Amino acid sequence: MSKSKKFLSDVKKIRREARKHLVQGAVTLNYQGKVEDAIALLNQAVATEVVCVLRYQFHATCATGISSDAVKEEFAQHAKEELEHLGLLCERINQLGGKPNLNPEGLASRATTEYVEGANLVDMIEENLVAERIAVETYRDLIRYFGDKDPTTRVVLERILAQEEEHANDMHDLLVSHEGAPMLRK
Ligand SMILES: [Fe+2]
Ligand SMILES: [Fe+2]
Repeated sequence: MSKSKKFLSDVKKIRREARKHLVQGAVTLNYQGKVEDAIALLNQAVATEVVCVLRYQFHATCATGISSDAVKEEFAQHAKEELEHLGLLCERINQLGGKPNLNPEGLASRATTEYVEGANLVDMIEENLVAERIAVETYRDLIRYFGDKDPTTRVVLERILAQEEEHANDMHDLLVSHEGAPMLRK
């Protein structure tokens, strides 16, 4: 069979298959990953983002002390961005035919980061830096996992990761400026 004929018959097959499996929405036959695993992993990230929204929102509300205004603003901005991450993850889970798990019950144990109030402004910044470092590591692992199996999910996660790295950097900079030294003490 000539190349063009083969391609044409492939096109027919692709069209036929696309019609046959409509209930699976965006998940097509050449989806290389295991959809249930993908949804479970993304739901873990969903829980993590919810905890991050809550922690930053608490900090944005309760931070006090000298020069806390700028820091509060930063916390509030991060809370907003974590909420955007949450939206992206939920949307992708939905495209994969799953349901985002937003059930508050058991949320803290599904998340990889922790909800810590922190005793003062520096504590809060440190807690957020820890959480961001966990998020960065988790997203890197997930990106490696999805690799070529599911490029769309990978791209979503890469977009989130870039912002988590920025968040970690912002928290680091706040700590540095608080210490008044060019670098953090080891
Ligand atoms: Fe996030
Ligand atoms: Fe973040």
